[in-house]
Amino acid sequence: MDIGQRIQTLREQLNHFNYEYYILNQSSISDYEFDQMMNELIQLEKEYPQYADINSPTQRVGGTVSSRFEKVRHSKGMFSLGNAFSESDLQDFEDRIGADQVEYVELKIDGLAMSIEYRQGQFYQALTRGDGEVGEDVSQNVRTISSIPLVLNEPVDAIIRGEIYMPISSFDRLNQERALADESLFANCRNAAAGSIRQLDSRIAAKRGLDGFWYTLVDAESYGCTTHWEALAKLRSWGFKVNPYAKRCTGIQEVYTYIETIAETRYQLDYDIDGMVIKVDNLQRQQQLGFTVKVPRWAIAYKFPAQLVSTELEDIFLSVGRTGRITPNAKLVPVQLAGSLVSFASLHN
Ligand code: IVH
Repeated sequence: MDIGQRIQTLREQLNHFNYEYYILNQSSISDYEFDQMMNELIQLEKEYPQYADINSPTQRVGGTVSSRFEKVRHSKGMFSLGNAFSESDLQDFEDRIGADQVEYVELKIDGLAMSIEYRQGQFYQALTRGDGEVGEDVSQNVRTISSIPLVLNEPVDAIIRGEIYMPISSFDRLNQERALADESLFANCRNAAAGSIRQLDSRIAAKRGLDGFWYTLVDAESYGCTTHWEALAKLRSWGFKVNPYAKRCTGIQEVYTYIETIAETRYQLDYDIDGMVIKVDNLQRQQQLGFTVKVPRWAIAYKFPAQLVSTELEDIFLSVGRTGRITPNAKLVPVQLAGSLVSFASLHN
């Protein structure tokens, strides 16, 4: 077989097995077989540099080092959300949008917003939200996240948006390692995810165990979607990880009942959520409702109250950051909080 052909086949197969593993949570080959194919591809790309491709599955390990992140204007602004804190706030929201709407509730992932552009089905650029108008190009780090497709199964031009987060399991592992190395600890999953995405050396970001959930297809109508529900299905069909706990409800009462169910079970999840997001499902209706200066009228975030616990302080130790800054840390009598067992805490504030 011709070399270019072999490289192409290996890439397609590796992308497929990667998708099975990271999105479907199943795999039809062993780790050993996967590694064999990956090693063959790495070897071929080394021998035949004319076939180099920035979106090859071999590029996930990182290696790019930059001195700063380029600022790039979003082709469409990235908005934030208005907040609701009670059932009556939600009732007000429903009264504003018109009571006969089908509403859509999904988890509010506590991570950092990201916008990724694909050109001809190829990963082109990942931008942080920034101020909503101008973000920073963090492509080199986002490419290392295994669950994010580098090549879509259709050659589409598209911008997709969602949340990058650090799973609680990755966060616990990272802070354990940092405590052992006398390094300052991350206060929570969101800070750890943000810190990892801002690493100048993408090999470090690659090792942080980051993940992502995707909830917006920009200009979804132009891909034939008429509802948010269909847009999520489209994202799923292109190979993106879409959160499974999204629910289509009729009326705010059903929304609120679902919020209560999630509030009770949320600590079983391997990621932090800080609330739920309620969206009008119909895209045409979304357009009619439009935006205020800052936030959409067709969506709102319901925020969970913060959880507080108390425990005893065992010890305080200092750690030195890369910049020489000294941070105090607490060693605690382990206590259950927000679904994980907490034994250390940063005292940076
Ligand atoms: S929709 C125009 N859906 O929450 C609407 N945002 O507080 C754009 N977030 O900036 C946002 N989960 O970073 C939406 N399922 C979800 C979300 C979500 C988390 C974040 C997002 C946004 C912030 C607003």
